[in-house]
Amino acid sequence: MKTATAGIAFLLALGATAFATPASAQGVLNVYCSVQVEWCTLIANEFQKATGVKVSMTQKGSGETIAQLKAEAQNPKGDVWFGGTGDPHLQAAEENLTEVYKSPKMSELHPWAVKQNTDSGGKTVGIYAGALGFGFNTELLAKKNVKAPACWADLLKPEFKGEIQMANPNSSGTAYVAIATLVQLMGEDKAFDYLKKMHANINAYTRSGTAPMKAVARGETMVSISFVHDGVTEALAGFPVKTATPCEGTGYEIGSTSIIKGARNMANAKKFYDWALTPEAQKLEAQAKQFQVPSNQATPLPPEAPKFADMKLIDYDQAKYGKSAERKRLIARWDSEVGALPKP
Ligand code: G6P
Repeated sequence: MKTATAGIAFLLALGATAFATPASAQGVLNVYCSVQVEWCTLIANEFQKATGVKVSMTQKGSGETIAQLKAEAQNPKGDVWFGGTGDPHLQAAEENLTEVYKSPKMSELHPWAVKQNTDSGGKTVGIYAGALGFGFNTELLAKKNVKAPACWADLLKPEFKGEIQMANPNSSGTAYVAIATLVQLMGEDKAFDYLKKMHANINAYTRSGTAPMKAVARGETMVSISFVHDGVTEALAGFPVKTATPCEGTGYEIGSTSIIKGARNMANAKKFYDWALTPEAQKLEAQAKQFQVPSNQATPLPPEAPKFADMKLIDYDQAKYGKSAERKRLIARWDSEVGALPKP
């Protein structure tokens, strides 16, 4: 009798796991996503397909996402933050907004991606790298008979008056990388003098980091300060866009991923984090027509991706410029000395 009862209990338990698990029983995952929406949507769908976890995705810039994490710190609504520039991920780590997690995939990554993990005390990891530069509309340049910019110095020329767009560093990680790059290249005071002079040539500081490149593509502005891989996306879509990396040298981002502190769906957040570091997941980047350098050494580099070897890259100090106090200080200085200037 005893054996029969145990047997029935065993069969019932087996039934519960083997037959009574619809896909939704795998639970849910809330992803905050700071890459372009095409890639965000693709990873959400593919992760859902691969695991049965129901993904809800919100796309927002890197600066906006860290602001949201702070606002929700007492009651976190997101589980994982995918992509976006590395500096705010480091700041989030320092401000205890994200979780320590050691992925078994760490040994497959490029050293720059692992360094991001070490610099953050294990709270974030590099997913991709991308270099900063200029985008320009070749038809507009030809029409106005203007030579394409090749150096930071060129952006101060009078022929670019009202013709340059960059993002606002409060909302955009791209714009913060631009400011931190100029500070590292020129020294802080000279960088701010440069930004103030360039203000005369700027027609808008956009909310999103990719908006200036999209404006170049549509012929709304001649030049943008952007990640050069974002220019490849527009050129492939058929727009008259080319890019350059500045002759004096340029900075780069280590696009990152972090698990949000107090995530309600912690097991799924870890599952997603591990998956995002696999070549299978990282190949989706090129499928979504995004061309950063992927962080897993086994992920093929798309042939369209801009080649780092052809650029003059500075040794961007991710740890220093990802410090909470430094990032806040530089953005506040930009707000008061540049952002607050009257429109030229
Ligand atoms: C685009 C780029 C990414 C970058 C992101 C930053 O999606 O392709 O490489 O990380 O912009 O966005 P943000 O709006 O924060 O500048």
